[in-house]
Amino acid sequence: MAEGQATGRGAMAPGTEYTIEALASEERTFPPPPGFAAQAVANDRGIYARAEADLEGFWAEEAARLDWFTPWDRVLDWNPPDARWFDGGELNVSYNCLDRHVAAGRGDKVAFYWEGEPGDQRVTTYAQLLDDVGRCANALKALGVRRGDRVAIYMPMIPEMAVAMLACARIGAPHTVVFGGFSAEALRDRINDAEAKLVVTADGGYRRGKPSGLKAPVDAALADGACPSVEKVLVVRRTGQDVTMADGRDVWWHDLVPGQDAACEPERMASEDLLYLLYTSGTTAKPKGIVHTTAGYLVGVSATHRYVFDIKDDDVYWCAADLGWVTGHSYILYGPLANGSTGVMYEGTPDHPAPNRWWDIVERYKVSVLYTAPTAIRAHMKWGPQHAAKHDLSSLRLLGSVGEPINPEAWIWYHRHIGGERCPIVDTWWQTETGAIMISPLPGLTTTKPGSATVPFPGVDADVVDADGHSVPKGQGGYLVLRKPWPSMLRGIYGDPERFRETYWSRYPGLYFPGDGAKRDEDGYFWLMGRVDDVMNVSGHRLSTTEIESALVSHDAVAEAAVVGVADPLTGEAPAAFVILKLGAEPSPGFGEHLRQHVAAKIGPIAKPKTVMFTPDLPKTRSGKIMRRLLRDIAAGRALGDTTTLADATVVEQIRDASAAGKDEE
Ligand code: WT7
Repeated sequence: MAEGQATGRGAMAPGTEYTIEALASEERTFPPPPGFAAQAVANDRGIYARAEADLEGFWAEEAARLDWFTPWDRVLDWNPPDARWFDGGELNVSYNCLDRHVAAGRGDKVAFYWEGEPGDQRVTTYAQLLDDVGRCANALKALGVRRGDRVAIYMPMIPEMAVAMLACARIGAPHTVVFGGFSAEALRDRINDAEAKLVVTADGGYRRGKPSGLKAPVDAALADGACPSVEKVLVVRRTGQDVTMADGRDVWWHDLVPGQDAACEPERMASEDLLYLLYTSGTTAKPKGIVHTTAGYLVGVSATHRYVFDIKDDDVYWCAADLGWVTGHSYILYGPLANGSTGVMYEGTPDHPAPNRWWDIVERYKVSVLYTAPTAIRAHMKWGPQHAAKHDLSSLRLLGSVGEPINPEAWIWYHRHIGGERCPIVDTWWQTETGAIMISPLPGLTTTKPGSATVPFPGVDADVVDADGHSVPKGQGGYLVLRKPWPSMLRGIYGDPERFRETYWSRYPGLYFPGDGAKRDEDGYFWLMGRVDDVMNVSGHRLSTTEIESALVSHDAVAEAAVVGVADPLTGEAPAAFVILKLGAEPSPGFGEHLRQHVAAKIGPIAKPKTVMFTPDLPKTRSGKIMRRLLRDIAAGRALGDTTTLADATVVEQIRDASAAGKDEE
């Protein structure tokens, strides 16, 4: 597939492309171990045919596993791109995650084992969690939050974060969680787009052995009336660091929540009522508020969680993501709790205080299913297998991967050193927008190939098409599309129906376009090839090149900036910046670092360019479009180990030559 063929802009990540080609010769296959297959939740291949023959019947059966106040009238109402699932039905997500398990006598079952980075531990049963959520829900009401009001959550990975999310769901107040690593400015923009009435936060959290601040960025976001919708701020004391509490606005969690009544009647929500917004990066500088609604989302996440992770009553399931991302929403919180499973939540980094931290957790809690990202696996590879080898990992029976294509070396390492060569691996492809897993093995049925997400989940109709929307023959690359609706699909971009249509539904009318390149092999297996738009994947997190460019250009001394993703052995991709300074500003290594900090302050540390290259010019097409492909070549060709690189004459030459070539191209 020609790079940037149809869009005329981005292309799949270099390196990813190479990996995919190398994979064409990937011949190792891993059939489900017979013992595993015999016991698997999905152990009948007929599940695929059933879902294909009767999509609505398949999902209705899954929906019937939930508790409904009022049954639905109609499974699906599909007017592309508008889907309504389970219309006429009424239910409550927190009721399904909590009350019904307690009512069924499972109140003493552990909902999650939580561990803070400093080593503090809390065990929460379903009955306790129900009480905690009820108290928090009543506290939110006491602070003036009503059904339909949006609540922003900006917290460390502590149990109160899960409690706050479920409390929102209980009273029908959609949450919008902002990852704690985002800056004050990023938080402010999201609060304002969502017009949140309340912010739930903490004084700070622990990361890499140090307390980080969260209340201070909240104060900065709200300063000078910048967020007029916000009336109150609820603050958990986590680290004990000094914070300023604004009179009449800020309330301590410990002053308000524990004194509330634990009983709180769950709101009867309509199937299509908004459950939450989650902001993600697109091709422009403005993040998109992805809309997820109540019934379809819960049906999608609970079904996929159960089948893909083969969840049994005695499993200890650990999704090692942050609740701040969609992986946390769907597979730490809603899917697992709807299924009544026991989870592990860990606040901190995998190498604190030492690189065996995760394996210590797996051993202590006897984790049986582990779900993480390729970037984490590569970090463990770098630290070496000796850390895992010190621990008894025999409780593990299934491993998962998500966030970016997993390179076969990492797959094999994970399989060997963590899975003891006995655990199947599920490489799950999905997105914030899809809400739930779309392409993945079913571990008792699917023979896996390292590096391939394998086949669509039952009922998911995925295809690979060319620029004109025609299916490409097996063995060829193209654009991934989804042809049929699915229950957990996004219902829109908050407040921007035009952008919703334009981004996902306009390239191939009636088909969903996720923005990924893909290839299908002779067996019909899908190999994901990275983004085909101006979106980067850094450590499994999405960053917009345009958003980072805007952050750079917002600096007084910067005239113009271009950002591209370059392959990185650890993070998958990393942002590389090319910067033209205004007249009079002097490029220097120190200034490069200054600009990196500027981006961290604007968006968050995750968006910091790995390299900043100062250049007198940028290669552009005649129509003024920056030739990113060329910049990627330049960025990838240099030693990128250092953080700041001053362009030398040859780079300038290269950029100039290439620029001329680019003009010829147009
Ligand atoms: C993008 C979505 C889904 C939760 C984490 C990221 C890439 C995700 C895989 C995978 C290849 C993957 C895609 C996708 N991606 N999982 N298993 N194999 N690529 O959610 O931030 O919405 O990012 O991540 O490019 O479009 P997200």
